[in-house]
Amino acid sequence: MRFEIVTLFPEMIDAATRCGVIGKALESGLMTVTNHQLRDYCGGSIHKVDDAPYGGGPGMVMRPEPIYAAIEDVSSRCGADLKVLMTPQGKRYDQATARRLAGYDSILLFCGRYEGVDERVRGLFDEELSVGDYVLTGGEAAALIVIESVGRLIPGVLGSDESSLDESFSAGLLEYPQYTRPEEFKGMRVPEVLTSGDHAKIERWRAEQAESRTRRRRPDLLAQKPGGERGRG
Ligand code: ADE
Repeated sequence: MRFEIVTLFPEMIDAATRCGVIGKALESGLMTVTNHQLRDYCGGSIHKVDDAPYGGGPGMVMRPEPIYAAIEDVSSRCGADLKVLMTPQGKRYDQATARRLAGYDSILLFCGRYEGVDERVRGLFDEELSVGDYVLTGGEAAALIVIESVGRLIPGVLGSDESSLDESFSAGLLEYPQYTRPEEFKGMRVPEVLTSGDHAKIERWRAEQAESRTRRRRPDLLAQKPGGERGRG
């Protein structure tokens, strides 16, 4: 799987993708992340990527020409099955979207900065994604969220132990509580059921815990589940 990132700060993408599971996936060639410096597409006489907004107001707007040139060049030279604009105005990113994106061979992620992009380049993108209802200083951290969450779904990127974690999330529930050694820590004991060796009982306990934890912390997730709160009326 290939990610093509159009950004003003390739060093942010580089630094974060060198670590951990994603770093290993890049080393092994299971995925590639290639940065394209937007500044390199500022041909002509104006060498800046941003300009003042028509109509006045605070902040700067990203100029359309370098964005257009970058998207055209990267798509034709490298190919991009899906072109995504990272913006707080996009559709909310979630695990279902990560799974859908993992089905593409190549994805271009455009990282916006400043007050956003000139409205006339929006049509260059297949979709717009937001990683949450808050405003970042740019799309790089958002693109990293997409790279990491999609990357870990690529077959072979995670070991089989870790992959099972995804199944628990795809069930639409938060994960059950986890414990490791020691059996007692600062007076708190590991729930007895987990040391019982009774696997059916452990599974039941985990399912109940996942359900009650989700009900307490994220009732909205239960409501979204088929046959969830809303489904049950
Ligand atoms: N750029 C700035 N804020 C963002 C967000 N919440 N999601 C995606 N891109 C962004």
